[in-house]
Formats: sequence, C-alpha cells, structure tokens
Amino acid sequence: MSTPKRLGLIGGTGLDHFGEAVGSHEITGSFGAPSASLAEYRIGNLQVFFLPRHGEQHQFPPHAVNYAANVDAFRQLEVEGIVAVNAVGGISENYPPGALSFPDQLIDYTWGRAHTFSMAAGDDLQHTEFALPFEGRMRQAMIKAAIAAGINTVNGACIAVTQGPRLETAAEIRRFSQDGCDLVGMTSMPEAALAREAGLDYASLCVTANWAPGLEQEPVTMAAIEATLAQAMIRVRELLEQLFEEFSDVH
Ligand code: HPA
Repeated sequence: MSTPKRLGLIGGTGLDHFGEAVGSHEITGSFGAPSASLAEYRIGNLQVFFLPRHGEQHQFPPHAVNYAANVDAFRQLEVEGIVAVNAVGGISENYPPGALSFPDQLIDYTWGRAHTFSMAAGDDLQHTEFALPFEGRMRQAMIKAAIAAGINTVNGACIAVTQGPRLETAAEIRRFSQDGCDLVGMTSMPEAALAREAGLDYASLCVTANWAPGLEQEPVTMAAIEATLAQAMIRVRELLEQLFEEFSDVH
C-alpha cells in the first residue's frame, strides 16, 4: 500500500482548530451536515482535513454529534485514514490526568445514537468485523510518531464509552473498572464503528483530562478538565505534527 496522501483529523474537546488552513470544505450528503466545514491543511504533499467534532462553537454535545455525517464527510473526501482525538477520564493508574494513550479496545455503553449507516429496514446490512476496533496502520503510525517525537504515551487501553453529557456515578466507574475498562469517554462510539463500516482506518489518541468521577475526594470540575487539556494539547499537537511529517514528503 502506498503512503497515504489524504488524512482526516477529528478534534475533540480542547482541540477545536489545528493551524493555518489553506481551504475549507462544506460537505453534505445523505446523512446530513457534519459538525462543521472541514478545514484543509497541507504538509508537503499531504492533505489533512480537520473536523472539530463538537462544532466550531462547541454546540454539539457528545449525544448530539452527527457521527454518521462526520464519518461520511471523510469518506467523500477519500481520506486514507482518520486520527481522532478524544478527551477522557482515567480509571486505571497508568492513565493519570495529562496522560496520552492509544486505546486498543472499547466497550460501548451508549444508547439511542445513530450507530450504523444501515439504520432503516432494507438498507444494505453489514455485520461489521470489529474485534480490534482501533487496529490499523494509523494506530501503528501514531505509536511510531510518539516515539520519534520523544513523547510519553501508553500503548493500549480499554475505553468505556458512555452516553453523557453528565459525568458518571462512582458506582458506574467501579463497574467499568470491573468490566476491564481503563478510560471513560463519551465520543469514541459510534464514531469508531462507523469509520470501520465506511472502510476507513481509524485510530484514537486519548487525552486524560481528569481522574474518573468518584476516584478522588474532590468532585470533577470543568475548570480543572480545561486546564489539564490545555497543557496536554501542546504534546498532542507535537505528536500530530510528527505524524503528518512522516506521511508527507517533508523530511
Ligand atoms: N467521563 C466521561 N467523559 C469524560 C471524562 C469523564 O470523566 N473526562 C473527559 N471526558
């Protein structure tokens, strides 16, 4: 397989823009409008299309994101892989606030979301293979880029994906821990499954914003989450720049 020359980047909370765009793409299709127009960046001969998952004004909470339209926009742009950035809570000790990790597993606790491109009776049915939900070339490339950039990351994690927008109860977090989850977030599903259905290589970079609710005496606050994310996004950007450079002809 040749080196990808078109990649998609989905920004989560804390990453709502990426750099100096050279273009902007308004995409719509049979699944409706994506969260925003897609900004285009060029790194050498690599095109990167950036989509802020929650919209430009952060107007789409996790349960109201049109994940199908978002993934479909990348399909229409014929990207060869998607990198998604997800803010999460840390459950296991290896994932403290500020940690960057590449999940390799997930458990889907969301409900009521449009979770497939085949929502209607009679639509083409796919029983998508999803045993390794994040595995693919993009995940391996991110791991390599992190090492090359000298950025500490954790390779592997199981993420519990919750409906939100409220944070979890302490008992829910204990249950997720017993279920084998290391992280908790609200946005990996159905995004990852739709990307797989669309035949797109999809990898996630998780950024721990806080210890999961109930693990500490103090309640989780948005102010603390935002401060941790602002710091961590400096390393996220470095990692992504390294990744894109490796896919471009700029060396
Ligand atoms: N729970 C769910 N989603 C999150 C959290 C959390 O603690 N922190 C950031 N996203």
